Amino acid sequence: MNIVDDIMKLKKTRNAVILAHNYQLPEIQDIADFVGDSLGLSIQAAGTGAEVIVFCGVHFMAETAKILSPQKTVLLPDINAGCPMADMIDAGQLRAMKAQHPLAAVVCYVNTTADVKAECDLCCTSANAVSIVKDVMKQNKEIIFVPDQYLGDYVATETGCNLISWKGYCPSHARILPEDILSGKALHPSALVMAHPECTPGVRQLSDKVLSTEGMCRYVKEIEQKEFIVATEVGILYRMQLDNPDKTFYPASDKAVCPNMKLTTLEKVLWALEEMHHEITLPDETIFRAKKCIEKMLTYRS
Ligand code: 13P
Ligand code: SF4
Repeated sequence: MNIVDDIMKLKKTRNAVILAHNYQLPEIQDIADFVGDSLGLSIQAAGTGAEVIVFCGVHFMAETAKILSPQKTVLLPDINAGCPMADMIDAGQLRAMKAQHPLAAVVCYVNTTADVKAECDLCCTSANAVSIVKDVMKQNKEIIFVPDQYLGDYVATETGCNLISWKGYCPSHARILPEDILSGKALHPSALVMAHPECTPGVRQLSDKVLSTEGMCRYVKEIEQKEFIVATEVGILYRMQLDNPDKTFYPASDKAVCPNMKLTTLEKVLWALEEMHHEITLPDETIFRAKKCIEKMLTYRS
């Protein structure tokens, strides 16, 4: 038997589901029961009937799954798969920010630790950030937005809301430069440019469409266009090409790689199921407090 057969067999024995983010390695996407963006993964984690969730993504995603399904066992195949952006703010820093703006509503990007989520009123992903902030604006004059300054900038532009933003960013998306978009356009003049809102404003402004990873996967299927320049983490190109063999996708930059997303391998998925590690655990109090802002987000969908 090969490693994939071993994983499939053990997955059945353990009554497990494998969830994978769009940036995972091709062989991980191939064995997953569901591949998607942060919002889709949260919905799957909340609704699965499986007893075990093997999360092929990064730490905050597995924490989100645990918060939504505390009775389930959530496993992260490589415990070192973190998100540098999520680690750019901790709960103490957010509490200090809240103390400076006591009347502000607090919206956090899903790319935050459970401890930070526990301090927030509402959570959002790149897919629903604009509609959530538009709604929060109706009742709040001030909104704190953490931790991604670039997603914050995009949301502020789309909503007209003057957000109080934390200065975090994604190091992988920050590697995509405006010059990359300009040279991509020069090389592929008929290609449509799609950018993730974690990209810098300079990149976003040169793009035709700003979308979450799942939004991109949906959009390229829907429209007639045949060529695309993709300004996000390069792992997404595998799925796009597989779903659209008649279309061509160019990465905006080969440097846009998230090393944490590449830590998950088939061997580590197998070991996770064999040894039931690395289990994500959180204090009940954190689950209770963080759950509110995620569940509220799920009522919006997108
Ligand atoms: P989405 O897949 O939700 O668009 O997020 C991208 C990302 O960077 C996840 O860490
Ligand atoms: Fe975090 Fe960026 Fe990697 Fe997403 S791509 S997990 S935001 S470091």
